[in-house]
Amino acid sequence: MKTHPARLLIAALAFASTLSAAPVRTPEVTEGPFYPFNSNNTLPTIPPANRDNDLTRLAGAKEATQGMPFLLSGVVRDLTGAPLAGAKVELWHTDAAGVYYHSGDRNAAKRDPNFQFYGESVTGADGRYSFRTIKPGLYTGRIRHFHFHVKMGDATVLTSQFTFDDERATFASDGVQRSLSGAALEATVIAPQRGTDSSGAAAWIATKDIVVDPKANPAAARKKKK
Ligand SMILES: [Fe+2]
Repeated sequence: MKTHPARLLIAALAFASTLSAAPVRTPEVTEGPFYPFNSNNTLPTIPPANRDNDLTRLAGAKEATQGMPFLLSGVVRDLTGAPLAGAKVELWHTDAAGVYYHSGDRNAAKRDPNFQFYGESVTGADGRYSFRTIKPGLYTGRIRHFHFHVKMGDATVLTSQFTFDDERATFASDGVQRSLSGAALEATVIAPQRGTDSSGAAAWIATKDIVVDPKANPAAARKKKK
């Protein structure tokens, strides 16, 4: 029996869609020196009460966080594209003045005392992570960026960054941007839009999925390389 050409075409399209369904893995990017929990940070450890996913709400803060709210969310997926439950996304970045919560940052005098600097979002069955934060401030030598980890239990399965689409040309020489290309570079770029939060206040909004191998062991891979 001869197969009708239309059927062959449908089969070919179905096959192609399974190929394109495999998502691009979010690439490993340097952690940088200012992860708040690294051993070089001599500032007081961020208490558990200030590790939630709203970085604009700091327990005990006297004033509002500086900067326009920024809603960052997406789905953490495994390498097949399926939503990943139980993934902890750790987010850290500069305040509106471009200062980190880290003793190694020499601009401490400008640090916003009402910003949380760090947050965690743990995914449920739908794989969703979400943060309310502010647009990170710029500091010399880098494109604007968010830093993040994805952890499964105690294991860090991904260390990466999100950079800003509308600033790529301005910071063409940025080291992290230059270390990536093609689809891997695109997997780290976000394109925030102006919108409003649930209270109707102006906010930046960006969504970006994060694709990880939940069994990855990049620390061991780095050790091996050395
Ligand atoms: Fe950074």
